Amino acid sequence: MTQDELKAAVGRAAVALVTPGSVLGVGTGSTVNKFIDALAEARVPLKGAVSSSEQSTQRLKAHGIAVLEAHNVDRLAVYVDGADEIDPRGFMIKGGGAALTREKIVADLADRFVCIADESKQVAVLGAFPLPVEVIPMAAAQVARRFAALGGQATARPGVLTDNGHPILDVRGLRIEDPLALEAEINQWPGVVTVGIFARHKAHTCLLGCSTGVRTLVF
Ligand code: A5P
Repeated sequence: MTQDELKAAVGRAAVALVTPGSVLGVGTGSTVNKFIDALAEARVPLKGAVSSSEQSTQRLKAHGIAVLEAHNVDRLAVYVDGADEIDPRGFMIKGGGAALTREKIVADLADRFVCIADESKQVAVLGAFPLPVEVIPMAAAQVARRFAALGGQATARPGVLTDNGHPILDVRGLRIEDPLALEAEINQWPGVVTVGIFARHKAHTCLLGCSTGVRTLVF
């Protein structure tokens, strides 16, 4: 199967984890796009969705799925989203699509994070994928120097501003052995809006698309 077919397979598989009549958290990215399409095709009745990006909002609305504001929702049972990397403990790097801040906000509302990914995203240790970090512009150079002190090379993602109007730094050269500790540390740096380490908001389940079929990993 191609990578695109693997993404479609996990997108379809995730539909079975959606409770009819619920409000659903919806992430961002090419895998989530497959999930949104499969959800619409399956005609699962929903009260609505809380979306993590303008891109997903548009796709949900195009399928006639109501999009609710996060501030009007107390809790979500399930949040479905992709990942750029996922490790054996369910810790992830996210933000390749620049939606990491809203993704973390919606993940924080949810009782359960269901990650949908093709097998290329599975890694032993996080960090080969450049770590996305959303920053306040005046802090970008200062944050880049802090990463350099940790052995990382941070570069601004050219031509990209997030849905919140901020730039993204992509940090190469990190080997993230302790995602919980590094996420906590980076969160203390002034000017960091969101770091793309999802350790406190890790996956509870991952539907992983493999050549042999969809594997369910529980963390
Ligand atoms: C969006 O900012 C990201 O966190 C995505 O969830 C991640 O990049 C996975 O995207 P794909 O499903 O397109 O690989």
